[in-house]
Amino acid sequence: LSTLLGELSKEFKIVLVVGGGDIARRYIDIGRKLGLDEKSLDIIGIASTRVNAQFFTMLLENSNKDQIPENMEDAIKLSKKYSIIVMGGTTPGHSTDMVGAELAEKVKADLFIIATNVDGIYSKDPMLHKDAKRFREIKIDDLIKIVGGTDWKKAGSNVIVDGPACEIIKRSRIKTYVINGKSINALKDLIKNGRLVEGTEVKI
Ligand SMILES: Nc1ncnc2c1ncn2[C@@H]1O[C@H](COP(=O)(O)OP(=O)(O)OP(=O)(O)O)[C@@H](O)[C@H]1O
Ligand SMILES: [Mg+2]
Repeated sequence: LSTLLGELSKEFKIVLVVGGGDIARRYIDIGRKLGLDEKSLDIIGIASTRVNAQFFTMLLENSNKDQIPENMEDAIKLSKKYSIIVMGGTTPGHSTDMVGAELAEKVKADLFIIATNVDGIYSKDPMLHKDAKRFREIKIDDLIKIVGGTDWKKAGSNVIVDGPACEIIKRSRIKTYVINGKSINALKDLIKNGRLVEGTEVKI
């Protein structure tokens, strides 16, 4: 992935927002067992995303190794200096899905791609339901129904596109796709040629 992004960043401007993954969930689970409140759990989650982001910068030649932006303003400033920047979370109350959507909105991105660990948006959680059906495209309002509204649920929840992110995608009409982050070729085809080989297109 880092090789592909390094290569693409010669041609395109890329802002990469990294999530918390398993590491964040482990901290959040422990914190929840110890009785920490939701805001504290989000803060722990955000710190984890920043470690992941820092890690990713180490794999990219010309990226922001010296500074992981912690808010939109710094991210936008830094993205003028580098052709690819990496960041994690910003503030409690939403996941990094929303950070990506917010940035896409602010920089008027051509594309917003959510690269995750499933092949797109399904009728229900495909990790829990074998009969879940994958959509080739889905209307934003139907996606909002599937994810249970536009509010934030709780730290570490496994939601395909978090509610607050859906709200931004809808209001800004951002061209959004959900694909499997392990499908390097699919990612390349989407960024280079605007062609969706596998995954879901969100329609506004
Ligand atoms: N309708 C759905 N379609 C697809 N995946 C779904 C759906 N509902 C729930 N999921 C779950 O969402 C998960 C993806 O979201 P998750 O938040 O776990 O990962 P991520 O957002 O890619 O990474 P991170 O949250 O660590 O940044 C899938 O693994 C799947 O289990
Ligand atoms: Mg997530």
